[in-house]
Amino acid sequence: MIHVDSGFRTGEEIQQLLGLQLLATVDEVDLGTRPEQHQEAEVFHDPPLKPVSHFHVAVAALRSAIGMSGPALPARLIQFTSTQSGEGKSTIANAVASSAAISGLRILLIDTCIRHPALSHRFAPSDNRGLVELLLGTAAIRDVMRYSADLKCMFLPAGRWNKDPVALLGSDRAKVVFHSLRGLFDYIVVDSPPAGRVIDPIVISEFSDQLIYVVRWASTPRAAVRHSIRQLSRYKKPAGIILNHVIST
Ligand SMILES: Nc1ncnc2c1ncn2[C@@H]1O[C@H](COP(=O)(O)OP(=O)(O)OP(=O)(O)O)[C@@H](O)[C@H]1O
Ligand SMILES: [Mg+2]
Repeated sequence: MIHVDSGFRTGEEIQQLLGLQLLATVDEVDLGTRPEQHQEAEVFHDPPLKPVSHFHVAVAALRSAIGMSGPALPARLIQFTSTQSGEGKSTIANAVASSAAISGLRILLIDTCIRHPALSHRFAPSDNRGLVELLLGTAAIRDVMRYSADLKCMFLPAGRWNKDPVALLGSDRAKVVFHSLRGLFDYIVVDSPPAGRVIDPIVISEFSDQLIYVVRWASTPRAAVRHSIRQLSRYKKPAGIILNHVIST
């Protein structure tokens, strides 16, 4: 018999096979083709649009599950990763950051995807300096961090392409930079690359207080998810799983 690994579908499977808690499920939604059509834009709307969408409710449930409801002292750094590309890390990270900022928390969203900085292209298309320049020591925080009216929070883009993100993120300067940033916010939301592809998320996890793992529902092979979580957990155990792109029947 051919065994087809068609991914994770339920919280029970996640608990049994990964030993992790399901923090939230996010339905597959029609995101449209233009950014302003995105349902996720509703999360950025202040006051919230009525009726509140499933996406909005899912983001609120996730924030509640990870205790991201009031000011944090000391500041907390929340990192998002997944096994592979396209599972929804950036979408969920930016929605969580915006939702928390709208509720009055001091939020910084950082794009640490130095190799493929999708969030930076979207939210800071004309800025080419960011985290990389901070880590190289060629720019100061105030030069590269900016308020994003779209996101409703502070944003630190990835910066220019660099051939060795692992060395940069693992440098002594990175410790100083992340320490300084923590002093300025309640929460730092970090979008990171896929853990099944590169070790950058492991390096970044040294700084994170909560690591949230996104899994594309009924899609990403269970074996790949397990392998990648096992590797990560040697350094930081994920706080839990988000099942994204869920198609409810
Ligand atoms: N719940 C959802 N419903 C519909 N589309 C979604 C959902 N979540 C994410 N998407 C879409 O899926 C695509 C991939 O999402 P996203 O860029 O957030 O993934 P990613 O994990 O950050 O990928 P990468 O590792 O390449 O950065 C995007 O076009 C995004 O708009
Ligand atoms: Mg991404």
